Amino acid sequence: MLEAVDQALRVGCPTVAGNWDPARFPEPDRFDPERRDNQHLGFGSGIPSCFGAPLARIEAQVAFTALVQRLSQPRLVVDPPPYRPSPLLRGPEHLVIAVEGIRTRGEPLAHAAQW
Ligand code: HEM
Repeated sequence: MLEAVDQALRVGCPTVAGNWDPARFPEPDRFDPERRDNQHLGFGSGIPSCFGAPLARIEAQVAFTALVQRLSQPRLVVDPPPYRPSPLLRGPEHLVIAVEGIRTRGEPLAHAAQW
């Protein structure tokens, strides 16, 4: 069992590192949602890739579109945010943002807030 975990880590770490290869992705540390030719390895690659990737992409599109439409002037309070110390699943531990206001359907901006 431990041997299997060891094998998985040896394979997994270089795969994730590929997403930060500056030869493939210019300025790999910069968050750029408009990157072109963005063939990242976040869902794996080839035969052992994520079965739910199409669903995850649709969910992300729906969620972020709704968020962008509702939040007015969102900005990071802590930039850069603290990241989880995981070599396999990279991402912020939490994301504190401030906004000018929140739009509800058919209503003007509500109060300013910070999370
Ligand atoms: C942002 C969301 C997601 C990310 C980043 C993600 C990422 C991954 C990664 C990296 C793998 C491993 C691929 C490999 O073996 O190299 C994987 C496998 C898998 N994922 Fe996801 N996933 C996400 C969402 C989902 C969702 C929503 C589902 C199901 C509805 C799902 C189902 C699966 C399954 C079944 C596998 C195993 C596929 C196999 O071994 O053949 N994932 N995912």
